[in-house]
Formats: sequence, C-alpha cells, structure tokens
Amino acid sequence: IQTLLICGGGSSEHDVSLRTADFIERQLQDVDDIALTRVVMDANGRLTDSKGGVHFLSQQRQLVAEDGSARDVHYVIPAIHGYPGETGDLQSQLELFGIPYFGCGPEASKTCFNKITTKLWLTALGIDNTPYQFLCSNNGGEAGKATMALQQWGAVFVKASNQGSSVGCFKVTEEEQMEEALEQAFALSPYVLVEKCLKVRELEVAAYTYEGELVITPPGEVCAPEDTFYSYEEKYAEGSRARTFVEAEGLSEAQLGWIHEASKRAFIGLQLKDLSRIDFFLTDEGDIYLNEVNTFPGMTPISMFPKMLANAGHDFSRYLSSLIREAVA
Ligand code: ADP
Ligand code: DAL
Ligand code: MG
Repeated sequence: IQTLLICGGGSSEHDVSLRTADFIERQLQDVDDIALTRVVMDANGRLTDSKGGVHFLSQQRQLVAEDGSARDVHYVIPAIHGYPGETGDLQSQLELFGIPYFGCGPEASKTCFNKITTKLWLTALGIDNTPYQFLCSNNGGEAGKATMALQQWGAVFVKASNQGSSVGCFKVTEEEQMEEALEQAFALSPYVLVEKCLKVRELEVAAYTYEGELVITPPGEVCAPEDTFYSYEEKYAEGSRARTFVEAEGLSEAQLGWIHEASKRAFIGLQLKDLSRIDFFLTDEGDIYLNEVNTFPGMTPISMFPKMLANAGHDFSRYLSSLIREAVA
C-alpha cells in the first residue's frame, strides 16, 4: 500500500510535526505491505521528498517528482499540526478526490482546532469547559473586556484561537501585562479567548479506534514546573522540566468515570475518527473541565498519545497499519 506521510506545513508547529512524522515513520518501517514516502511541506505549501521537489496530484492520486516520475498514492497520513492539516484543509481535498487518510475529517478537524468553536460545541454537548470571554479583532473595546475578566478572575490565560503547542498562550496576572498579551495573541488570530486561570492538574486521555472499537485510555498527567505552565519550551525545548505520567494517580472512581464519559461523548458528538487526545483540567476543588480536543496529537518524545496507547496494551504499528489496510480494502 503506497502511503504518503505529509509533515511540516505552514503553522507555528511545523517543527513539532517533523518529530511526529519521525515517530510514525519508525512505526511503519518494518511493515511489509506498506511502502511509506515521507514528504515535507514548507511554509508556502511546497513539497519535497528525500530527493527533491515533488507535486501531489490529488485528482490523479499520484506523487510526481521533478523528473516526471510518478508514484501512486493509496493512503495519506496528514501528520501536520495546525494549518493545513489539523485545521482540516488538507482533509477536505482528500475527501474531494476520495483518497483515504488517517485521522479526523475536515469538519471535526476545523471545529476542534479552533479553541472557540471547540468550546461552543462542548457546551452544546453538555460538557463542562473553562469559563472564558471571547474577543474579536473587529469589535471595539476588547481590551476593556479583557481587563474586566482579569479583575473578575484574578488571573487569566489569553489565547489565540488557532494555535497549538501553547503558541499564542499567555498567562496574565497584572493589568500591565494585558496589552502585550492581547497584541501577541491578535497577531496570530482575529479571535482571542480570555480564559479564567485555574490552579489545575492537567490530565489527558488517548481516544482512538482500535480494531473497530473506540478505546478511551485512563488519564495520564502532565506536570509543568510550579513557576510556569505547560508552555512550548516546557513541552519541547532541551532542558524542559515538565514531567509526564502515563497514568494519573489518586483520582476517584467518580472522576475517572466523568472523564471517560466526557471523552466518549466528545469523540462521538464531534464525529472524531481514528485518533485524538482529549485534555482535561482538574481543579483543587475537584471540578473537571474539558480543555481541548487534539485531532492530530503530537507524537514527539514528550507527547502522551503514543505512551497512553502503549500503556493500554496496544502496539502503535499494528494500530496504524490495520487502519491503513481497512481504509484501502
Ligand atoms: P494548546 O492548544 O496550545 O495546547 P492549551 O489551551 O492546552 O493550548 O493551553 C496550553 C497550556 O496552558 C495548558 O497545557 C496549561 O498548562 C495552560 N493553560 C491553558 N489554559 C489554562 C487555564 N484556563 N488555567 C490554567 N492553565 C491553563
Ligand atoms: N498540538 C500538539 C502537537 C499536541 O497537542 O500534542
Ligand atoms: Mg494543550
């Protein structure tokens, strides 16, 4: 099965995507019936494989090299965090030309990548999510609204609506910090959230389809250092002090049950496919909020999705190769 692994892309998570692709490549390298070609998309959408520039002709389902040689494409793995992968744009094109692919469809991807539409959907599905205010660059007076939120909540997170890996996320505790945070968030997105800052434990589950069944793992936990949050640096930089635990300790049966049910409701209600990582906040008071749904979660050395899948007794290589075989059958 000629499988095209597309990574990189035009978002701030380009480099993270390359690390995710490294992992996927390793998982498929010894699978006899799957021939993987890895292509990197640059920030302008140009593709290169290990030999040079290539074009993916979706209508013809072919990958064409500069010398004119062509390879068929039977299946695509859009391993791109953010635009144009996790945002659903690439998936729209694959749907149009009937090419099977790994992961969520365009609509679920688009909904979940945007932090505001995610919250609207979670509320519609009856799933608690963190209190927030919505800011739009077309409206006047948004700085005032943000400052009022800060005064009400004491500390807030200002977040661009359309980023991942904590890019465009700023913790604001003082009014003087607000202008800079809003400027940076609005530079990335016309829509910004100001979210109540909670003192939390951060829990994550892997939710995926394994041999036709929806699997929701017990929650793992990520612990950022006390003096910061789970920022881009703490996720990926050398010397990151964040720690991860594949199974969170000390949760009650009721809390585990709540997280399981909310994950299941989100996976089904948002029409997710194949994989996702669903992240929760647990407050000191014992309240649980669903923070976000990642339709193409990271698979870097710190990332939890592959670890939680392995902890559930599932072999990633077998999981992905059987999804590929089913999709092309
Ligand atoms: P991303 O999609 O970029 O991962 P998140 O919404 O998950 O964005 O925020 C990134 C990190 O910021 C979280 O993992 C957490 O450490 C911190 N964070 C975000 N929102 C809050 C909040 N409301 N309260 C406390 N910490 C938060
Ligand atoms: N957006 C990153 C890759 C993640 O959530 O894992
Ligand atoms: Mg996150």
